[in-house]
Amino acid sequence: MTRQAWVLGAASNRFGKMKETGREAASRVALEAIQMAGLDPNEIGYTFVSNAFGVAERQAHIGPLINTALGIPEVPSHTVESACSSSSAALHDAYVHVAGGFLDAALVVGVEKLSHLDTLNATSYFAMGADYPFESHNGATFPGLYATIADAHVKRYGTETEQLGSVAVKNHLNASLNPHAHFQKPITMDTYLNSPVIASPLRLYDCCPFSDGAAAVVVVAAEKYPNPGMEPLVIRASARAGSIAAMHDRPELTGLPASQRASQVAFKQAKVEPSQIDFMEVHDCFTIAELVALEDMGFFPRGEAGKATAEGLTARDGKLPVNPSGGLKAKGHPISATGASQVVEIFEQFNGMAGGRQVPKSNVALAHNVGATGSSASVHIFSRR
Ligand SMILES: CC(C)(COP(=O)(O)OP(=O)(O)OC[C@H]1O[C@@H](n2cnc3c(N)ncnc32)[C@H](O)[C@@H]1OP(=O)(O)O)[C@@H](O)C(=O)NCCC(=O)NCCS
Repeated sequence: MTRQAWVLGAASNRFGKMKETGREAASRVALEAIQMAGLDPNEIGYTFVSNAFGVAERQAHIGPLINTALGIPEVPSHTVESACSSSSAALHDAYVHVAGGFLDAALVVGVEKLSHLDTLNATSYFAMGADYPFESHNGATFPGLYATIADAHVKRYGTETEQLGSVAVKNHLNASLNPHAHFQKPITMDTYLNSPVIASPLRLYDCCPFSDGAAAVVVVAAEKYPNPGMEPLVIRASARAGSIAAMHDRPELTGLPASQRASQVAFKQAKVEPSQIDFMEVHDCFTIAELVALEDMGFFPRGEAGKATAEGLTARDGKLPVNPSGGLKAKGHPISATGASQVVEIFEQFNGMAGGRQVPKSNVALAHNVGATGSSASVHIFSRR
């Protein structure tokens, strides 16, 4: 049995440096999302939490703390970890339970706080999400691993520096209109080109920053909430896929098989074609990742996404707006909050709450979230009722 499931409330704080602890921020955005959905916390049947690096705050098992703050300590919870795709994996779990008839309302909360660590320590924590003994232990970091993907893409397809830069310029512009964003200033191509190289060919502005942040999403069974106060997101597809973790074991580096598989399953579940997607939030932890995602999911032929981006096709007012929120690149990337925050953006777009970054058309949208260098991926597709 499956029944229709909706996202009925979604909230996020401003990404960047949080004064609050992770548990405080998570509890606050969770309450906001529940209230936006028009629910009482007592209606929540289960809390799916993501907090991959909670140990950096000396706090594991954060779910019961969030539920206690919400006044529902008796509600069960557990932590879902899938590196950078943790909260989209939690959303998948919530969807399966609600659509499967096991829960009428579920809460998804993602939170991360690492801003008290310096760059070396934060990088070392994140690197634990790769294949530790083979990659991280030997010095590989995420900027380095994604630089390897970028290098392979440049060599095979002739992807140009300015094409990567056009992803950064676009996403910083979008983020400048997003009150939730870590960076709220546009950048020029010159700023991009003059920024220091982090891991060749990637520069500072090719990279997402280290961000703290929290985001929450409420998933309900449509039949139990017939008169929603907000425009719900109908969850038309919720797909996950996996792939070989270690990059040296992969036959090909210019694409992520997990994104390819998850998107194929999602398009089939939702019964929509890529051409029917009005806008999307994709996993742009590095600019190359946005181009690879667009090619993996079939929006552009291999090697063509860079040209399309440079020509403005993926701009907010382009044919296919990509990352109107500013994406991980500029809205920020608080690992476990990222997947849920992509849904917050889609919810705000569907409800006309996106202000100056409102996209022209918002009937069908896609969220794509990757764990590590693509060892896991989630694709969700949403539509209006
Ligand atoms: C790119 C990176 C190495 C820069 O770190 P850093 O050199 O220590 O930079 P700092 O934190 O000292 O910041 C220096 C300046 O650059 C800015 N900055 C830092 N990272 C930035 C980024 N990714 N994009 C744009 N600006 C950035 C800071 O705001 C700061 O600006 P200010 O001087 O005006 O205050 C770091 O942001 C990084 O590793 N990002 C990737 C994170 C990651 O791997 N996530 C997981 C992805 S799978």
